[in-house]
Amino acid sequence: MSLTRRSALIGACVLALGACSTGTGGLSAAPKTVLVAGATGRTGTPLVAQLLAEGYTVRVLVRDPAKARAVLGEQVTYLTGDVTDPATLAPAMQGADAVISTIGAKGAKGPGRPEVIDYMGVKNLASAASAAGVRHFVLVSSRAVTQEDHPLNRMFGDVLKWKLQGENALRASGVPYTIIRPGGLTNAEPGKSAFVLEQGDKVTGQTTIARADVATICVQALKYPEARNRTFETHTVPGSPSTDWRAKFAGLKADPSP
Ligand SMILES: NC(=O)c1ccc[n+]([C@@H]2O[C@H](COP(=O)([O-])OP(=O)(O)OC[C@H]3O[C@@H](n4cnc5c(N)ncnc54)[C@H](OP(=O)(O)O)[C@@H]3O)[C@@H](O)[C@H]2O)c1
Repeated sequence: MSLTRRSALIGACVLALGACSTGTGGLSAAPKTVLVAGATGRTGTPLVAQLLAEGYTVRVLVRDPAKARAVLGEQVTYLTGDVTDPATLAPAMQGADAVISTIGAKGAKGPGRPEVIDYMGVKNLASAASAAGVRHFVLVSSRAVTQEDHPLNRMFGDVLKWKLQGENALRASGVPYTIIRPGGLTNAEPGKSAFVLEQGDKVTGQTTIARADVATICVQALKYPEARNRTFETHTVPGSPSTDWRAKFAGLKADPSP
């Protein structure tokens, strides 16, 4: 299915879920031009489709525009860059009201390891966003980042520890932010389950959420001031999808000032 067709379908789905497009917290008051880092990834691709379906102007930071174009089509603006190279990030930020990052490490070791991508890459993005006056930065992080003994740290290059350092760099950047910490990601169909948003990074059993549902949270977070400067874990459970995102975000505590 083409990205255009998928955008239309997802747009209809998002509207059916009651996404707000009017009022002070709606699209009219929210960022309109969004830079997506990680757009070619498995969360980034449905995220771009949802943003387009909701009428956002979408810029994408990609390492290989030709490869990305085959996935994302012609409706987005391509900015060639790499989160490990700060010089490439300033031009990408130009004109962006908001940044959404779904970047993630490739492998436990080597140039794509968590320290380089999930920490330094996020830090570079946050610094560039701050310098460019970006108004909102939405970061997809992970549940369990505060759990030092979590087996994922031993298995995958201290990925959770480095993700927490990346979160901290964003909090310290001064850019208003939303940090989303999903449980295990799946490729399940979105919009079929109830969202749980919670705080405290408590030890839980296995929790999961569809990547496209994470994308939906990213898009909703752009719209509501109640989502700003919040960090929360998320997963889905059997039930009906959320309709009142303002209330869901308002139920979260703001982070203490860094
Ligand atoms: N897997 C899970 O169960 C799980 C659970 C919780 C949280 N998470 C986190 O959720 C996020 C999204 O996951 P996902 O599965 O959608 O990720 P993914 O499919 O692996 O996509 C990662 C994206 O990051 C980009 N990227 C990597 N290094 C880059 C660099 N140096 N410069 C620019 N872009 C770069 C990749 O671009 P290319 O196409 O150029 O490679 C790709 O678009 C990640 O942060 C992941 O760690 C995952």
